[in-house]
Amino acid sequence: MSGIVVLGSANMDLVVYVAHAPKHGETVTGREFRTIPGGKGANQAVAAARAGGEVAMIGAVGADEYGELLRHTLEASGVDTDLLRTDEGASGTAHIVVDDQGRNAIVVIPGANGTVSGLGPGDETVIAAADALLLQLELPLSAVLEGAEAARRHSVRTVLTPAPAQPLPPELLAAVDLLVPNEHEAATLTGIAAPRGAAEALLRQVPEVVITMGAAGSLYAARDAAPVTVTAPRVAAVDTTGAGDTYVGALTVALCEGRPMPEAMRWASAAAALCVRRPGASTSMPYRTEIEVR
Ligand code: RIB
Ligand code: NA
Repeated sequence: MSGIVVLGSANMDLVVYVAHAPKHGETVTGREFRTIPGGKGANQAVAAARAGGEVAMIGAVGADEYGELLRHTLEASGVDTDLLRTDEGASGTAHIVVDDQGRNAIVVIPGANGTVSGLGPGDETVIAAADALLLQLELPLSAVLEGAEAARRHSVRTVLTPAPAQPLPPELLAAVDLLVPNEHEAATLTGIAAPRGAAEALLRQVPEVVITMGAAGSLYAARDAAPVTVTAPRVAAVDTTGAGDTYVGALTVALCEGRPMPEAMRWASAAAALCVRRPGASTSMPYRTEIEVR
């Protein structure tokens, strides 16, 4: 078992499945509408717990039906929600269009996530006792920064997924041990399109980087080691929503178990490949036994 704390968002995903996403001014008829628990933080928590980690989630849901469902989804996967607050407003929602190639476009309305401006009572104690802290960028930056700095004070490994992509304050990157952007986020952070070049530039700010590249696999770079590329299993994508979160959750579990980085990356890729073959975010995340047989 590994102690993983996720400080992040929980959103109810309102997903429409349609042959192609509408252009501006266009109206299209979709196939199906689904309400699926998501949010980058909750997704990483569910992915890590299902992959075999011992996981606690810090964040907030709203005092509505979505909030209850989000909390229940986390608990059903074994995530400790004692530090998941309930705000009196609405839960976060993500409005998602998924096309026939499994590609998505997303608008996030933060709701309760936006009220998490820093750490609350008890949060630092739980972070201090963890092996790893997982962070993304769907909470206010002030909370992400407080979390990263608390982890640093207690020598807890900090893993940041810089999504949604945005420029980051140097003091945040200075507190991060492992940065896991996708290729677009890596390009946004560095202005360099090629993953190799972007990784090199990022190593000036963080000691270790894993860039996820979808079907092209993932790339690891560190200050003191040669870069490693791991290929992804070939799969027919149904819905890629949450694939990056699945990768990070599984990767962190493997690293906390002491597995070497290339092996952890292969395992995380197998988990993410299972996720893209099924619709939805948290609903598509594999359990450890499914990852193991691949
Ligand atoms: O990373 C995927 C997630 O991003 C979705 O579940 C959605 O909630 C958005 O936040
Ligand atoms: Na999916």
